[in-house]
Amino acid sequence: MIILAIETSCDETGAAVVKDGTEILSNVVASSQALHVKTGGIIPENAAREQIKSILPVIEEALKNPGLDKNDIDAIAVTIGPGLIGSLLVGVETAKTLSYLWNKPLIPVNHMVGHIYANWLIQRTDNIQHTTYNKVESPEFPLLALVVSGGHTDLVFMKKHPSAASTKGGQAGQAINYLGGTRDDAAGEAFDKIARILGLPYPGGPAIAASAAEHTTHNNTNIKLELFPRPMIDSNNYDFSFSGLKTAVNRLVNTTKNKGHKEYNTERLAAEVQAAIVETLVNKTMNAVAEYKPKSLLISGGVAANRFLRDSFAEEISRFGYKTSLHVPVPSLCTDNAAMIGAAAFYNNEPIEWKSIKANPELTIKDSSVL
Ligand code: KG4
Ligand code: ZN
Repeated sequence: MIILAIETSCDETGAAVVKDGTEILSNVVASSQALHVKTGGIIPENAAREQIKSILPVIEEALKNPGLDKNDIDAIAVTIGPGLIGSLLVGVETAKTLSYLWNKPLIPVNHMVGHIYANWLIQRTDNIQHTTYNKVESPEFPLLALVVSGGHTDLVFMKKHPSAASTKGGQAGQAINYLGGTRDDAAGEAFDKIARILGLPYPGGPAIAASAAEHTTHNNTNIKLELFPRPMIDSNNYDFSFSGLKTAVNRLVNTTKNKGHKEYNTERLAAEVQAAIVETLVNKTMNAVAEYKPKSLLISGGVAANRFLRDSFAEEISRFGYKTSLHVPVPSLCTDNAAMIGAAAFYNNEPIEWKSIKANPELTIKDSSVL
C-alpha cells in the first residue's frame, strides 16, 4: 500500500511517500527555520505563510522523485494535531482537497503518534555511528515509547497498534496507555528557552548540544555535571517538570553576571543543562522499563536527535537485564517529517470522509481514539 503523507504541524512543510508503512520512497521537508533564527523563535503567522507557499511544490517533489503520480497513491494521510492552527490548516485543507479531487481515502494522524511510528521506517544510514542501536527490525509489542519534542514530553505503554484495538470492539485509546508527561515545559521547550537565556541561537536543542560538546572536548570529562536539579527524578510517578530548571539557570546566569564567576562559562552551563534534562528523561523512562518490562523501548521526537540522550539510553538498555530492544530513529526522522505520518497511517489505517476531518491544535497523545 502506497501512502502520500502530509505534515505541517509546526514550522516544517513535509510530504512523503511511504510503502507498506516501512519503506520511504520520498521524504521532502521544507523548513522555514532561517526565518525563525532571525526572530529567536517561531512566529506562527510567519510559519503558516511560508507553508502556504511551499505545500504544493513539496508535494509535487515527493511524487516526482520516485516517479509517481496520483494513480499510484492508495491513500492520503495528514497530521490533524497537535500543533499551530495556521500551520495545521495548510496541510489539512490541502489533504482534504486532494482526497476529494483524486478520490482517495484520507487517514487522519495524531502528530505524537506519528513520532512513535518513525521507528517502523526502514532507516537508511544517514548517521552510520548510530547503526548499532538503530534496529532494522520492527519494534515489538508490548512496547514503551518516550516522545520528546518541542511541545510535548509523553511516556506511553502500548500493547498493540491503536487501530487493532478499535477493530476488536474496544476504544483505540485503550491501546495507548498514558503513563506520564510533562506538567509544564516540554524537554525541547526547555532546551529552546534555556538556550535563549544562555545567548545561544534557535533552535536551542542542537545549539546546547553543540556547546556542551565543546565543554567535553576542552575539559576533564570527570567534572561532575550536577549543578542543576533533576526535576521530579525521585517522584513516584512518570511525570516530568522542566520549568524549574529554566528558573535555576536564569538565577545562576544573573548571579554569574553580577559576581563575574569564570568557571561557569556558556559551554559548561550548556553541558550542565543537557545532563540535567537527559538524566531525568533516561532515569524515569528506565524506571518504567523496569516496571513494565516491554519487548521494545522506542525513543522519538526532535530531542531524540540528541547524541548524549541516544548514547545514554543505549548504555542503560545494554546494562539492563531484561531483554528489551532499543529503537531510536536516525536524527532526520526524529525531527518533524511526513514519512512518520505515512507509517502511522499504514498501521492504523482508518480513513474518514474528507468532509469530517478537522485540524485540532489541542489534540494530545491521550486522544488516540482519533489517531
Ligand atoms: O519533534 P520536533 O521536530 O518538533 C515538535 O514536534 O515540536 O522537535 C523540535 C524540538 C526543538 O525543541 C529542538 O530544540 C529539539 O527538538 N531538538 C533537540 C535536538 N535537535 C532538535 N534537542 C536536543 N538536542 C538536539 N540535538
Ligand atoms: Zn514533532
